[in-house]
Amino acid sequence: MTAPVRFLLNNEPVTVDDAGPTVTLLDWLRERRGLKGTKEGCNEGDCGACTVTVSSLEDGLLVHRALNACILFMPQLEGKAVRTVEGLAQGDALHPVQAAMVSEHGSQCGFCTPGIVMSLYSAFRDGRQDWDDVLAGNLCRCTGYAPIIRAAEKAATEHAPDWETDESGGLIVLADAPGTGFSPVDVDVFAEWYVENPDATLVAGATDVGLWVTKQLRELPKVAFLGRLKALQKIEHDDGGMRIGAGVTMSQLRGAMAGKYADFAELLRRFASVQVRNAATVGGNIANGSPIGDAPPALIALGAVLTLRRGNARREMPLEDFFLDYGKQDRAAGEFVESVFIPDQPDELRCYKVSKRFDQDISALCGCFVIGVEDGVVASARIAFGGMAGVPKRLVHVEAALVGQPWEEATVAGAQAAFADDLTPMSDMRASAGYRMRAAQNLLMKCFVEMTEARRVRLYGRARA
Ligand SMILES: Cc1cc2nc3c(=O)[nH]c(=O)nc-3n(C[C@H](O)[C@H](O)[C@H](O)COP(=O)(O)OP(=O)(O)OC[C@H]3O[C@@H](n4cnc5c(N)ncnc54)[C@H](O)[C@@H]3O)c2cc1C
Ligand code: FES
Ligand code: FES
Repeated sequence: MTAPVRFLLNNEPVTVDDAGPTVTLLDWLRERRGLKGTKEGCNEGDCGACTVTVSSLEDGLLVHRALNACILFMPQLEGKAVRTVEGLAQGDALHPVQAAMVSEHGSQCGFCTPGIVMSLYSAFRDGRQDWDDVLAGNLCRCTGYAPIIRAAEKAATEHAPDWETDESGGLIVLADAPGTGFSPVDVDVFAEWYVENPDATLVAGATDVGLWVTKQLRELPKVAFLGRLKALQKIEHDDGGMRIGAGVTMSQLRGAMAGKYADFAELLRRFASVQVRNAATVGGNIANGSPIGDAPPALIALGAVLTLRRGNARREMPLEDFFLDYGKQDRAAGEFVESVFIPDQPDELRCYKVSKRFDQDISALCGCFVIGVEDGVVASARIAFGGMAGVPKRLVHVEAALVGQPWEEATVAGAQAAFADDLTPMSDMRASAGYRMRAAQNLLMKCFVEMTEARRVRLYGRARA
C-alpha cells in the first residue's frame, strides 16, 4: 500500500488511501469515482480519449497540462489539481469549448469527444492555439478534424479567461504535503533509499512503465515515483553548455531547444503527442535503453555527457557509452540517471525522423548530424542514429570517412558505403532492414543538400516548429 494521495479533483480536495501505487487515474475515475466521462480507448497513451487536465504550481506559476489518464498512476497526482470533462460546465452553461464543439458539429459518435474537449481546454488554459499539434494525440475516426478545428477557433475568439476557476489556493495548501514513501521530495533521501532498494521500479513519466501495467499486466511490487524530485527537473545553462535534469519533460526540453537547436525542437514536436510529451522525461527516454528513443541520437550527435548517481557518488560518461547492447546499459544496481550535459555546439544540429505517420509515431529510424566544415573541408562530424541497431548508435566509421575530406557529393557517396560498418538494422513492422539502410544513407545526402544548397527538402519547414 502506498500512503494517501491528496489532490484536487474538479477543484474539490480529495484524499485517496485505498488505491495501490499502480492504479491508474483512468481506472480510479471510472471504477471508483463513477466519473465515466473520461473514456478508455487504447489504454496505452495513443488515442487521447482519456485526456484530463493536470495543473500544478511551478515556481509560483499555475501551469496546466493535458495528460493521458490511462498511463498516469495515482501517486503521480500528489499535490496537483485534476480536471475531468465533468468539471467544465458551470450549472447548465457549457464551457465555451464544449459549446463550440456542439455548434460546429465537432462530434459524431462522441467517444473521442471528451478527450478532445479536454485537450482544447488544456490548450486554452496554457495559452496555445497550435491546433494541429494540440490535437495530434487525439484520435477521431468519424467526425474528421476540420469541424473540430473550427470549433477550437470559434472557442478561441469567444473564450473569456474569467470563466476559469483558479486552483492556486487549493494547490498552495497541498504544496506542504510531505512526500510519501513512494514519492520522495528530497533527491538525497531518494538516492540513499535506492541504494538500499535497488530492486525498486523507478517511475518518472510512466509513459513506458504505464504500459507494463496496462498492457503486460505486470505487478510492480516496489515502486518509487520521481515526479516530485524538483532537483531533477532543472535546466541549467553553465560551463559552456546546458545541463538537463533527468526529470525534465519532453515538452520542457522542446521549449529549451527551440532557441538553440531548432531541429531538436522540431524532432520533439514529432515525439508522440502533447499528452505524452507532458509526462515523458529525458531520464526515462535514456534509461529505458530503447533503440528507437528519439532524444538519444540528437543528444549523442551534440556530444552529450551523462551523469549517473549512486548514493552520493557520481560518474560521467559520453552518452553513447551508456548503451552497451540491446536491453543492456552501463548502470549499476541502485544507480540512477541524474542529468545530461550538452556542451555548446558551434555547428548546427540537423535531425531527421522517418516514421509511417508524421505525428504521434515511433521512429522507424532517426538520424542526427553535427557536421563542421572549414574552407570546404569537413573539420568535424558527429553522427548518431536510432532504429538502426540494438542501441542508439554513433557512426564512427561514417564520421571517419568524412573528416578531412572535401565537403562534396563524392565524399558523401563514399561515406554512404561506411554505413554498413557501423549499423546492422533489422526488419520489423516499421521497416525492413534494406529500407532502413537505404533511408539512413540517403539522410546523409539530404543533410549535405540542405547544408550546401539551402534547399527545402522537408515536408514541413522549420517555421512550424
Ligand atoms: C503513445 C506513446 C508514444 C510514444 N512515442 C515516442 C516517440 O515518438 N519517441 C520516443 O522516443 N519515445 C516515445 N514513446 C516512449 C516514451 O514516451 C519515452 O521513452 C519516454 O521518454 C519515457 O520516459 P518516462 O519518463 O515516461 O519513463 P518511465 O515510463 O517512467 O520509465 C521508463 C524506464 O526508465 C526508467 N527510469 C526513468 N527515469 C529514470 C532515471 N532518472 N534513472 C534511472 N531510470 C529511470 C524506469 O525505471 C523505466 O525502466 C512513446 C510512448 C507512448 C505511450
Ligand atoms: S485510453 Fe487511449 S490514450 Fe488513454
Ligand atoms: S466523434 Fe467518433 S471518433 Fe470522434
